[in-house]
Amino acid sequence: VHDDKPLTIAEFEAIAKTKLKQQVWDYYVSGAEDQISIQRNREAFTRLIIRPRVFRDVTKIDTAATLFGKEYAFPVGISPSAYQKLVGGDGELDVARAATGRKTLMILSTNATCSCEDVIDAAGGPDAHFWFQLYVSQNREKSARLIRRVEAAGYKALAVTVDTPVLGNRINERKTQLILPAPLSLPNMEDTDPDRSKKPSLNRELLQATNRQEADRVQEAARERGLLNDPSLTWNETIPWIRKQTSTMKVVVKGVMTAEDALLAVEGGADAIVVSNHGGRQLDGVSSTVEALVEVVDAVKGRVPVLVDGGITRGSDVFKCLALGADFCLVGRPALWGLAYDGRRGVEMVLDILERELSRTMALSGARNLQEIQRGMLGVERRDGF
Ligand code: FNR
Repeated sequence: VHDDKPLTIAEFEAIAKTKLKQQVWDYYVSGAEDQISIQRNREAFTRLIIRPRVFRDVTKIDTAATLFGKEYAFPVGISPSAYQKLVGGDGELDVARAATGRKTLMILSTNATCSCEDVIDAAGGPDAHFWFQLYVSQNREKSARLIRRVEAAGYKALAVTVDTPVLGNRINERKTQLILPAPLSLPNMEDTDPDRSKKPSLNRELLQATNRQEADRVQEAARERGLLNDPSLTWNETIPWIRKQTSTMKVVVKGVMTAEDALLAVEGGADAIVVSNHGGRQLDGVSSTVEALVEVVDAVKGRVPVLVDGGITRGSDVFKCLALGADFCLVGRPALWGLAYDGRRGVEMVLDILERELSRTMALSGARNLQEIQRGMLGVERRDGF
């Protein structure tokens, strides 16, 4: 008997909308400007069609995926997203428990509302094989301390976000501004401002500036305190600098959208690439991540793992990404909708839905393991009458 539990990610999203405050919902759901890239992320999946193979003995379906020598139960992990305690339950701790419960990858945001140490503890220790997402600060000493701290905590890789030199222009978020309520803090940020909870972050103040003078003033104030993302990062300087700060962690670049940058990443020594447009929240008008995935995979030619996120809400979306050559997928908002629904259990339900849908799509397409999911299993919908 169906007991009204949500059965799809879309149903989780609809429930989350009713549970979250307007300001919080606007923050999580927003894309930049006209929301074109958010739409494109989703639409790209509907344009790709699956060419299933049949009569292939699909009694056993194996979804296991390996990254940096660690086997995960299935190729869907959780993208880093900020302020998870705003969504519900124990925030990042619940997401971590769900990710280890389901034997998959979590990437913790620099802007987490739980400390990197507590998150690893909640996950059951360093066996969890989690990654930490890094925003490089203008104050490099501060970033260096953070890197040492997450290394000591047991994170296996740094995912350096490269698409956010400044925040994207998110209109709803500017109208209903997000201010972290008093009990919440950002324990990985070393932000000691006692009035922190009454003000938006400096990255957000910069986004609110409506003329150049205001923007210059915020930037000036921020430079002193090192609280802004460093907009001066480059391929030549930044990856070598990060490498010098850690001897054990892999370095992953998150936010690559072109073959050109993918090649620079590989040549610059990145250990993996995440194709991402930040869930459509940064530059609007870029392609979908699925479109970008194709050119990145073709440029990288298997030299490093390629991950992808953006608009994945079905196991069949995961299947399509893998068929195009991705090694692993990540979901951002779907995990948050699960968290809003019922804390750790909600996130586990979301992961379970994606796992079951992927496994079923594989069985129905004749792929018994991830290696058997090939590009030839996809076609593109023709809209020109053919
Ligand atoms: C994000 N994302 C993000 N990325 C990052 O590198 N650091 C961060 O702190 C955040 N914060 C963040 C907050 C919120 C509310 C969202 C929705 C997203 C981007 C995230 O890692 C990921 O790229 C996208 O969420 C993937 O798209 P979907 O799955 O949400 O469509």
